[in-house]
Amino acid sequence: MQHVVFIGPQGAGKGTQAAEVAPKFGLVHLATGDLFRSLMAEDTTLAQEVRTIYDRGDLVPDELTARVLFDSLDRRSDAESVTGALIDGFPRNAAQARILDDSVAARDETLAAVVHIVVPRDVLMQRLTGRLICRNCGRSYHETFNPPVIEGVCDACGGELYTRSDDTPEAVARRLDIYFEQTEPLLDHWRASGIVHDVDGDAGIEDVTASIEDVLSGVLDTDRN
Ligand code: AP5
Ligand code: MG
Ligand code: ZN
Repeated sequence: MQHVVFIGPQGAGKGTQAAEVAPKFGLVHLATGDLFRSLMAEDTTLAQEVRTIYDRGDLVPDELTARVLFDSLDRRSDAESVTGALIDGFPRNAAQARILDDSVAARDETLAAVVHIVVPRDVLMQRLTGRLICRNCGRSYHETFNPPVIEGVCDACGGELYTRSDDTPEAVARRLDIYFEQTEPLLDHWRASGIVHDVDGDAGIEDVTASIEDVLSGVLDTDRN
């Protein structure tokens, strides 16, 4: 399997773009944030612990995050048509980058591309205020920039739209600090192997999709569906 990682700050459009792009390349969209939002909906001690960390905008422990990610990959990669994973939200620090490298090597798979979605910080704040998420499928909408056809209802699955509990000014500031301190520096490590592709994310949603599809068409040796 050939995997792709999306790296970009909070509000860059990782989730928005992954939903469009992953099915076209036979990739399963694995978003650690989405996996945690499902986990938090359960009534367990673990859910309660994750919720406390998540609502502050802090990182959930590395080992737990990796387990949640790879369990999900194993559950969803059975289908014949799956060529790899589009990983959105992992890795976010040096320890997670090592876990990813080791796991991919141990599984005899490859990391084919890292797509870095670049958006200026002031634009990010505007996007995160006004974001709406589908409770059922996790798709992102925006009150102004990407509204659903019917207010409060997901276009894709009919699910209910809600505002994420970590889209508060305090948690957004914390998440952006962690991104610029711990996640963005990981790009240096991958740039050395020539797999980083910088994409301008400060454009219309469809234009960004087209740029990412151009990149992936060049690096994934798979037929487009
Ligand atoms: P996660 O859910 O991954 O959140 P995030 O990293 O904060 O990223 P976002 O989902 O906010 O940004 P996005 O780039 O997906 O933006 P979107 O497409 O929605 O993680 C949440 C939490 O889970 C973490 O804080 C942590 O606690 C935990 N966690 C997750 N992974 C972890 C890990 N590896 N280790 C430890 N803990 C982890 O777009 C944003 C908005 O902009 C939307 O409203 C959208 O409609 C709009 N928009 C998108 N594109 C455009 C465009 N081109 N023009 C105009 N508007 C646009
Ligand atoms: Mg997201
Ligand atoms: Zn939905």
